[in-house]
Amino acid sequence: MSNGAVFSDIAGRYDRLNAVLSLGRDQAWRRTAIDRLPDGRILDLGAGTGAANEVFGDRDVVALDPSSEMLALDDAPHRLVAVGEALPFTDRSFDAVFSAYVFRNLDSVDATLHEIHRVLRPGGMAGVIDLGRPRGSFAASVHRAGTSVVLPLAGMTIGAREEYAYLHRSLDKHPPPEELLASSPLRLVDTWRLGPMGFVWGALLAKA
Ligand SMILES: C[S@@+](CC[C@H](N)C(=O)[O-])C[C@H]1O[C@@H](n2cnc3c(N)ncnc32)[C@H](O)[C@@H]1O
Repeated sequence: MSNGAVFSDIAGRYDRLNAVLSLGRDQAWRRTAIDRLPDGRILDLGAGTGAANEVFGDRDVVALDPSSEMLALDDAPHRLVAVGEALPFTDRSFDAVFSAYVFRNLDSVDATLHEIHRVLRPGGMAGVIDLGRPRGSFAASVHRAGTSVVLPLAGMTIGAREEYAYLHRSLDKHPPPEELLASSPLRLVDTWRLGPMGFVWGALLAKA
């Protein structure tokens, strides 16, 4: 099953699944990045169902996602079907870019970071939230063992075994954010950890 197919298949159930998996903390985790972004025009990259809209306040939001099924549930006024690796916008056209729970699903983090850099105005900022493994190899092993059992079982109980198995695999896709974002054209301003064992990470990046 491809990344895109996973999200198109679960579009209608996505918000509920996400809330269960994050023990209801997913919106609070998004907020830790959104609160640090400048006002103005913001790109929600991999917007999905538009779960972050209520936190954006009066910012001018453009929602972008490759899954038209997810985007159909998003109530942002401006919506576009596209991928982060090839943003259909002119240079320097956003004050901020936000992306939550998307980076694990990208075909290319590098290409997406270059595109974010291109569409941000000078002084613009990007906030990223995603799931991974806790810091440290022992904690990561314990967490990996846990999710290998818990996630497929949870998935089976609601008839979504493949989606949960995909989630378990995706947690190991990337190195920690400090390493993943080290070669970005954007300056890495800060990273932080959230959630049980710190398996959720946030990052703030700035364009010079
Ligand atoms: C886990 S969902 C997160 C949705 C939303 N950001 C949220 O906070 O609920 C991941 C989203 O990333 C999208 N996605 C997958 N590949 C992408 C890509 N290459 N570029 C942009 N978005 C992508 C999926 O379609 C899906 O809607």
